[in-house]
Amino acid sequence: MVVWITGASSGLGLHTAQALAAADHTVIAGARSFTPGKGEDGIHRLQLDVTSDESAAAFVWGALAIAPRVDALVQCAGILMLGSCEETTVEEYRRILETDFLGMVRMNSLALPLMRSQGSGRIILFSSINGLLGIPFQSAYTAAKHAVEGYAECLGMEVHRHGIQVCLVEPGDHRSGSDAYRLHSAAMAGDSPYGADFADTTTVIAHDEHNGSDPDVLGRRVAALLKKRRMPGRLRVASLDQKLAVWLHDLLPTPLNSAILRGYYLNPKKARKYREQAK
Ligand SMILES: NC(=O)c1ccc[n+]([C@@H]2O[C@H](COP(=O)([O-])OP(=O)(O)OC[C@H]3O[C@@H](n4cnc5c(N)ncnc54)[C@H](OP(=O)(O)O)[C@@H]3O)[C@@H](O)[C@H]2O)c1
Repeated sequence: MVVWITGASSGLGLHTAQALAAADHTVIAGARSFTPGKGEDGIHRLQLDVTSDESAAAFVWGALAIAPRVDALVQCAGILMLGSCEETTVEEYRRILETDFLGMVRMNSLALPLMRSQGSGRIILFSSINGLLGIPFQSAYTAAKHAVEGYAECLGMEVHRHGIQVCLVEPGDHRSGSDAYRLHSAAMAGDSPYGADFADTTTVIAHDEHNGSDPDVLGRRVAALLKKRRMPGRLRVASLDQKLAVWLHDLLPTPLNSAILRGYYLNPKKARKYREQAK
């Protein structure tokens, strides 16, 4: 298959691109930091900024020059911002939504006419456990991933009769993400009324990510989706406790669920322990 993949310069995107190449697909990968060319790993790399119409169009032309079809589009490009709801600016929210949600929309809109004319295609969109529940100080990312979830359900229904399948990948914490994409809202560097809670929560988040699941396993599971005649609508790749958090979120009354998550993240004792361990 000819597979286009966004956000493949690091993290889960890179691991997925490598698994796809190992499964003998023609992989055409995009990221802003790429120098165009074919690597020793067999992956074709092209520059791509998913927030730019021009860059996205140039990527598509470049990809079609390498192989004149697209059987699958895997969208991993994403950035995360940590900050309080009150102090994260509209511009900061816009930046996250532009990459994590509208970037996906842009790439899909370019790939879909090609897939429709082929009468087949697969679209795999990277959401997150945060596409299913909110946690403190991740509102921009959580909003973007919830948008991805809703959008993907609509898309799946619309393109079904054109032979196109859509699957959401919902990773829990994986020890893969680059710290370069864990942005902090500018206000959090100052004298924030949320400062202590923010420091504790980000300590817990960073600890969970650094001790997260194996990104190679996720890459192989995403690659395996392309072997299935029918992809599932969702592939959740998360630890048991993160899966449990989603089940509880759907089952429990909101105040109770929220108290559990507050206790988990806004937890000075746990954060202190993690800080000690990290020394
Ligand atoms: N890691 C986790 O634990 C985890 C958990 C749940 C969900 N996810 C999701 O999985 C995906 C990958 O995350 P990650 O943490 O593994 O990766 P990451 O290391 O944070 O990498 C992000 C990737 O996105 C690319 N990117 C960022 N902005 C871009 C833009 N405007 N245009 C094109 N590419 C762009 C980056 O490349 P350039 O800078 O070179 O453009 C990089 O390749 C994301 O969608 C993330 O939300 C990750």
